[in-house]
Amino acid sequence: MPEDRVLQKEIKKLNQIGIALSSEINLEKLLELIVREAREFTRADAGSLYILEDGKLFFHVAQNETLIRRPDPPPGFKPYPLPLSRESVAGYVAITGEILNIENVYSLPEIVPYSFNPDFDLRNDYVTRSMIVVPMKDREGQILGVLQLINAMDKTTTVTVFPKSVEDLVMSLASQAAVAIRNAKLIVDIKRLFEALIRYSVSAIDARSPHTAGHSRRVAAYSGAIALAINKQTTGPLADVFFTPEQTEELSYAAWLHDIGKIGVPERILDKKNRLSDEAMEAIVNRFELIKALKLNRIHQAWHAGNISSPEVGKNGPDDSISEEINKVQQEIEADLSIIQRVNRSHFLSDEDLATLEVIASKTYENLSGNMTPCISEKEFKHLSVKKGNLTAEEYERIQTHVELTHNILKNIPFTKTLKNVPFFSATHHELLDGTGYPGGLKGDEIPLQSRILSVVDVFDALTAADRPYRPAISPEKGGEILKAEAEAGRLDKNIVNLFLDKELYTI
Ligand SMILES: [Fe+2]
Ligand SMILES: [Fe+2]
Repeated sequence: MPEDRVLQKEIKKLNQIGIALSSEINLEKLLELIVREAREFTRADAGSLYILEDGKLFFHVAQNETLIRRPDPPPGFKPYPLPLSRESVAGYVAITGEILNIENVYSLPEIVPYSFNPDFDLRNDYVTRSMIVVPMKDREGQILGVLQLINAMDKTTTVTVFPKSVEDLVMSLASQAAVAIRNAKLIVDIKRLFEALIRYSVSAIDARSPHTAGHSRRVAAYSGAIALAINKQTTGPLADVFFTPEQTEELSYAAWLHDIGKIGVPERILDKKNRLSDEAMEAIVNRFELIKALKLNRIHQAWHAGNISSPEVGKNGPDDSISEEINKVQQEIEADLSIIQRVNRSHFLSDEDLATLEVIASKTYENLSGNMTPCISEKEFKHLSVKKGNLTAEEYERIQTHVELTHNILKNIPFTKTLKNVPFFSATHHELLDGTGYPGGLKGDEIPLQSRILSVVDVFDALTAADRPYRPAISPEKGGEILKAEAEAGRLDKNIVNLFLDKELYTI
C-alpha cells in the first residue's frame, strides 16, 4: 500500500478512536478503552496506563494479551501509587514530557537516568522487550498521565520494535486520551460536588431534629444494600431484577433526597415531644396558679361577707368551713393540672382520661376582668385529646405535606437522563401497596420497586433509630417484626422486607 494511503488510513483510525474516547464518560472504562485502542493501533501485546495525581503516578490499567491467554491468567489489581521520579520509565516521561521508544528494556544505555523494573516479568514469567512510553498531554500542555505500550508484534506475532513512524500517531492518540480523561474527571468532580452538596444539605435538614439526625444517610445506606443484595439473587422472586450502576445511583439520590421537603415543616411540629409545647404547658401551669389564687380570694371575700354558712359550716364554726372549702378548691385544681400534665406526656389517651379532660375543658373561672373564661382553651383541649401519638390531625397533615414539597423541590432540579426518576421515587416513599399511603394513594404496580425499597427502609429507620420524641427506639428484631406485619397486611413489599431481614442488611 502506498505510504500516503497508509497514513490516511491511520489518521482515519485515529479519528475514530478520538470519537470513541470522547463518548466514554466513565473514567475507569475510558482508561481501559484508551489502552485497548492504543494497543490495537500499534499492535502492542501489552499496555499500561498511569494517571498523575497529587504528585504521584497511579498505576490504573494493565492489559497483557499473552498473560490473559494463559490457562491461569493473573488476577485483576487495584490502582496503586508509584513515586514520581526520573528513575522509572513512566516517571521519567511524566516529568520530562518526552516520548521514549525503547528497543529492548533489558539493554538500556548506561547514560539514561531511568531503568526498567523487571519485577512484573519475573512474577509473571513474561519478557518485556520493546516499549513506547508517551506522556498524555492535554491542550494546555499539562501532563495528566503516561501511556506505556509493550512489545510491538509483527505479522508473525514475534516481538519487534515500535517503528519511528508510529511515534507521532501515538502522541496524537495520547493527547486525545488526555482530553477525554480531563472531561471524564471533570464529570467525576462535578458529581462529587453535587453529592457532597446533597449530603451536607440533607444532613442539615435531618439534624433540625435530633430524632431524625442521620435518617436520610441511613435510608440511603439500607437502600444501596438492598439493591446490591437484589443483584446477587439467583433464585427467588427478585432473581430477575437487576440494578445497573446508573439505576443504583438513581436510587441512592432518591434515598438521600426523600425527605428534603421536611425543610418546609416547622421544627415545633417535627420535633414535638409532648402533646403541648413546653411554652403552652407553662402557660397552663401559670393559669392554674392564677385560677387557684382567684378562687381562694373569692372564698376569703365570701367568708368576710359572712356568706359561707351551713351546711358547709364545720363543727368548729366558720373557720373550719373556710379551710375545707380552700382544701377542696386547691385539691381540685391541682388534680386537674396533674391530669393535664400526665396526659400531655402520654402516647395513648384512655377513654377515662378523655372523659376527665372533657370535664376539665367544661370548667370556667372568673378572670381578672370579671369574665367567665374556660380553664383550658379549645386549642389546648384539641392538642391534649389526641387519641394516639402527640400530633393533632392538622399537624399530622402538615408533616405529610413534606412529600409534595420534596417533589416540588426535586422536579426543579435538572437531573440528568439517568437520574430522571429521582423526583418520582423520592415523592412516593410514603405510598403503600394497599393504597392507604400518601400523597397519591397509589396501589400495587403503580408503586415502582425503588419506592417500595424506600418505604421499607424508611419505616424501619423511623422505628429503630434513636429515641423518637414520644417513645424510645425499638430493637432491630422488634422493628423487623413490625415490617413483617406490615408486609403481611399488604402494605409493604414482602420480598423486600424478607430480603432486608433475612440478609440482616440493617447491620451494614
Ligand atoms: Fe418521609
Ligand atoms: Fe424518611
